[in-house]
Amino acid sequence: MLIDIVTIFPAMIENALRTGIVGRAIERGTLDVAARDLREFTTDRHRVVDDVPYGGGPGMVLKPEPLFRAIDAIARERESRPYVVLTSPQGTLLTHEVGERLSRRPHLLVLCGRYEGIDERVRSRVDEEISIGDYVLSGGELAALVIVDVAARFIPGVVGDEQSVAAESFSRGLLDFPQYTRPAEIDGETADERLTVPDVLLSGNHAEIRRWRKRESLVRTLERRPDLLNDASLDDEEQEILRELVARQPR
Ligand code: ADE
Repeated sequence: MLIDIVTIFPAMIENALRTGIVGRAIERGTLDVAARDLREFTTDRHRVVDDVPYGGGPGMVLKPEPLFRAIDAIARERESRPYVVLTSPQGTLLTHEVGERLSRRPHLLVLCGRYEGIDERVRSRVDEEISIGDYVLSGGELAALVIVDVAARFIPGVVGDEQSVAAESFSRGLLDFPQYTRPAEIDGETADERLTVPDVLLSGNHAEIRRWRKRESLVRTLERRPDLLNDASLDDEEQEILRELVARQPR
């Protein structure tokens, strides 16, 4: 998968993509991500990318021509027709499903917006606007990084253990069960308090462990995000556990 990110802060994108799972995928060539400086697509001496809004008001607006030039130049250079995404608080809310859908595009071109705005005419060349949440960021760079991270995880070979993507929160619509690692016991906040690991996880009984994890996932989802249960795909055992949990809830 190829992702070009057009931004006025290429260093912000490059630095963030050097580390972690995505960084490793880029090093291995499983994923190709390039930060493209919007100023490279200006034609004036001062490399101006924004201007005051028509009609007045505060802030600056990203000019259309550098963005159009960027889209055209990148399409030409890559010999492809990229799927053009604009980061914007007015876009489709990014979810697990949206990330999966974007990951199936061979070439994404992400335009990082600025919070003051972007010339409306640019939207004529945008295939989809994506928001990462109901808040306003000062620029689209953090949103672009989130989009890359979410989409990249769906590409085979990016996440080492393929099973972990399939099992993790949201692929089945449930929150994750609690995880523990060694040691089995540590000091708590007070002298007499010990922080332990649930016995079942130390038991070696894999059937019991699987059932406990299903139950914990359901307990958490019911407590924290009951809305997710409407669309969750539950197996027979999970449905049984959920019925039992709901029956026990105080009314
Ligand atoms: N730009 C500013 N706020 C944003 C948001 N919430 N999502 C995506 N892009 C943005």
